[in-house]
Amino acid sequence: MLIIRTDNLTKHYGRIEALRGVSLTVEHGQIFGLLGQNGAGKTTLIKILLGITRWTDGTAKLLDEPAGSVRVRRRIGYLPEDHRFPDYHTGASLLDFYGALLEMPRAERRKRIPEVLELVGLKGRMHYKIRTYSKGMKQRLGIAQAIFHNPEVIFLDEPTDGVDPVGRREIRIIMQQLKDEGKTIFLNSHLLGEVEQICDRVAILQKGEVVREGTVADLTHLQNHVLLGLASGQTFPREEVQKLGYVISSSGEMWEIGLRDGQSIDPVIDLLRSRGLSIRHLVEKRQTLEDLFVQTVEASEPGVDRIIRHPRRRPL
Ligand SMILES: Nc1ncnc2c1ncn2[C@@H]1O[C@H](COP(=O)(O)OP(=O)(O)OP(=O)(O)O)[C@@H](O)[C@H]1O
Ligand SMILES: [Mg+2]
Repeated sequence: MLIIRTDNLTKHYGRIEALRGVSLTVEHGQIFGLLGQNGAGKTTLIKILLGITRWTDGTAKLLDEPAGSVRVRRRIGYLPEDHRFPDYHTGASLLDFYGALLEMPRAERRKRIPEVLELVGLKGRMHYKIRTYSKGMKQRLGIAQAIFHNPEVIFLDEPTDGVDPVGRREIRIIMQQLKDEGKTIFLNSHLLGEVEQICDRVAILQKGEVVREGTVADLTHLQNHVLLGLASGQTFPREEVQKLGYVISSSGEMWEIGLRDGQSIDPVIDLLRSRGLSIRHLVEKRQTLEDLFVQTVEASEPGVDRIIRHPRRRPL
């Protein structure tokens, strides 16, 4: 089942083209990651899907309704980027307030507040005012707010912004739990390593256009390179391996061995074992999302843009 569908979606803010013909689909139960540099149009896309801003051309649908339809509002949760909650609330009273706005019954709110705050690690501070919360705690509260009414689709705009590494990991675990419950998550992020770990599909947005889209597995394909490391103190017989017809380069403590079509790593391993060497590390090297992202961004930036044009000399 399709949860999100955009076709040739375009958005102009005056003379700025924030989105230029974006066509995307997100299926039920997926964690979908939208990547892109600052200003690429990620937040604009979420705002259109939620009905916060209108689009200029094309179509945008969420849960089979035109984007912005009031009918689907209760079925979606949203963590905006750079959100500010009224800080005279406590964590608990804020959720109670938002729940009441969505007409959640009081008894359900009472039950759900400690559950959700426990999930995001804030239960111990639920009766403290928000003004006493750290940045990461406010971000966790934002996630609690986004999932409080048990929505089917959750939009998270930079959910780990300002959160420490332990907290980020916890947020990833929460996202995984939500996915296991059958929720669909749409995530905007700059943190490529994070996206790689959690998303099923990703799209890279570049100046308002989707330049790459696919599963993380497809986009981070194998490169026919193997990284190999020996036990410490052992010397890698580089020349002998080269004589077997392999291309080798050193990569920190490891050796990177290129495999041509049809070439297998087995003869190398046989050779190392026959020399009594002990292999501590052997892994097929993948292109990371970061590699792909940087390549994509560089490829779409024509060299001519990098040339600094000298101002014309005025005639004296
Ligand atoms: N309300 C607005 N009025 C005018 N221009 C806007 C408005 N909102 C966004 N833009 C412009 O639209 C483009 C896309 O902005 P958007 O906020 O969607 O980018 P983003 O990918 O979310 O960036 P970031 O990673 O910095 O959050 C930018 O050029 C931005 O300046
Ligand atoms: Mg943004």
